[in-house]
Amino acid sequence: MKRRIVFATNNAHKIAEASAVLGDRFELVTLRECGITEDIPETEPTLEGNASQKAHYIYERTGLDCFADDTGLEVAVLGGAPGVRSARYATDGHDFDANNRLLLHNMEGATDRSARFRTVISLILGGREHLFEGVVEGRIAESAAGVGGFGYDPLFIPEGSDCSFAEMPAEEKNAVSHRGRAVRKLAAFLDAAE
Ligand code: IMP
Repeated sequence: MKRRIVFATNNAHKIAEASAVLGDRFELVTLRECGITEDIPETEPTLEGNASQKAHYIYERTGLDCFADDTGLEVAVLGGAPGVRSARYATDGHDFDANNRLLLHNMEGATDRSARFRTVISLILGGREHLFEGVVEGRIAESAAGVGGFGYDPLFIPEGSDCSFAEMPAEEKNAVSHRGRAVRKLAAFLDAAE
């Protein structure tokens, strides 16, 4: 039987990515399916804190096994920014184009373009919390390329590739991405916990 688990996001890209990695052993339940329509608070100063805050918020309201993720793009020459502020780098909303433009602007002339994506997942299983991390190293391109994915994908080129995440088929991104890595750790843990 498939195990039901709530993924605390309304981002369709993230749900598709996590479903592809978790496979058909798990049925991912969305926030809407739980009747949660409000924005979940994300007010902590770290990725770990935000992931944990979101997972606890869902668990307290549903009592269901659930997980939440938080991701940041950490750029070396910017001292780790935008980091935990990745979603709201340029504006208060999730304006991907504005964020990408600001990132390129802030990196004008930078020769060190190294960056990494880091995802932290907080899982609450049977009332106990477990954290998983996934990291992908790479660099920030000089200009945007590709139309796939979301967020900073058109600007991020993972180590060992010449293509941005937005230029890759979804499976190729999942195979090396921060969230793919974190979700595979989550899946291995869930398998072992059965
Ligand atoms: P979130 O809080 O986990 O949704 O992630 C914060 C921000 O990081 C998002 O609004 C995106 O701008 C960016 N982000 C998260 N995951 C990805 C990804 O896989 N590719 C590109 N950008 C991402």
